[in-house]
Amino acid sequence: MEAFIVEGGYRLEGSLRVDSAKNAVLPLMAASVLTPEEVTLTDVPDIADRHSMAEILSILGAKVTPTGRGLTISSGGLHNWEMPDRLSKRIRSSIFLLGPILSRFRRATVTYPGGCEIGLRPIDLHLNGLRCLGVSIHEEGGLIHCDGTRMHAGEIHFDYPSVGATENVMMAAALLPGETVIHNAAREPEIVDLQQMMNRMGAKVRGAGGQTICVEGVKALHGVTWKPMPDRIVAGTLLAAAAITGGEIELTDAPVSDMVAVNAKLREMGCVLHEEPHRLTLTAPRRLTAFAQLQTQPHPGFPTDMQVQMLALLCASEGTGVVVENVFENRFTHAGDLNRMGAHILCSGRTAVVRGVETLYGARVTARDLRGGAALVLAGLRAQGVTQVDRADLIDRGYDHLEKQLCALGGKVTRIEA
Ligand code: UD1
Repeated sequence: MEAFIVEGGYRLEGSLRVDSAKNAVLPLMAASVLTPEEVTLTDVPDIADRHSMAEILSILGAKVTPTGRGLTISSGGLHNWEMPDRLSKRIRSSIFLLGPILSRFRRATVTYPGGCEIGLRPIDLHLNGLRCLGVSIHEEGGLIHCDGTRMHAGEIHFDYPSVGATENVMMAAALLPGETVIHNAAREPEIVDLQQMMNRMGAKVRGAGGQTICVEGVKALHGVTWKPMPDRIVAGTLLAAAAITGGEIELTDAPVSDMVAVNAKLREMGCVLHEEPHRLTLTAPRRLTAFAQLQTQPHPGFPTDMQVQMLALLCASEGTGVVVENVFENRFTHAGDLNRMGAHILCSGRTAVVRGVETLYGARVTARDLRGGAALVLAGLRAQGVTQVDRADLIDRGYDHLEKQLCALGGKVTRIEA
């Protein structure tokens, strides 16, 4: 197992280009199954989830070839509609393949997907959405068998705007005759990216980014070359890293218009941000000021994937702040480790109250999920002494060599075999 060693006390300075978004790349890879022609994604970060998804696609019979910084997927030879159990448990995004596989074979067998342990994360909304499209589903021996022989366009109302379920249904409906309407759809920017790529493949999808998405089925989709959108969570994490060190950084290729909620909180903490369409700069004060409260919400609310990084910032701020996690029920699992570094966090259910301290101290801590692991690295950048963050593999799921990105900005972070 690998770990990150973080030497605290170095101010981050400099400029970095933001990678493509993990949460865009994974559904885009799944969408490649909708056509037998080649789909090329230029600029795909070297993250573990991308490799897991590529492995699943290969087992299903697709050919995945690295091309420069990107990859090409050719699903012409797809022959398998059973998702591999071991890999599905490794990444939750494996469930995105359900819609495209059904659309291709009219049947699919899946297991309950895995991913970060940040809550129950059921898939009932995915399955209910597919039922509205005529898929009949039965569970047996831990397997979910989906029969799509009677699939048709339909009308769906999600009880909750799930990102993955919205994307799954969009893809499942792309080749069904007639119009499918998704009400109370999730509005995340990555769904807009998926819509845009699907439309470039010949699909007729409109409304992504709003609460109602309409998919007019077409006969076939064709190949495409597509550059996935930049990662607003990686960008936010890098800004937070600069902020906690009192630093000054520039991000290029940043999805600035999708970062309004995060940037507003950083401003509340005393940072000065300058925004241009695809570039932003942040200058942080020597010590941040605590914001009064932060509540996670579906987009355009504050993203749950940035919550724990902001919790880390709050730990080293002046004042007291409250964080409420509304999206997942188990996303304060790093509070204990942050407290071991000298923080004062009190958690009760979905609420954390943080009293900022002047000094955090280096300690040996453990990542328990992707974003929480990144937050521990951020705390380590501020801490006095050395912090060892175990389970670097969890951080690698969504950050392309975080240690290199932070070193490029003047941080002292190395990777070791622990
Ligand atoms: C996606 C993101 C993830 C982000 C999350 C919320 C990807 C690859 N991942 O995950 O990084 O944290 O959106 O912004 O894009 N739920 C149900 N039943 C379902 C589906 C979801 O109850 O069938 C619940 C979940 O348990 C959770 C909430 O809905 O409490 C949000 O989940 P969802 O929007 O589906 O997140 P993901 O698509 O899994």
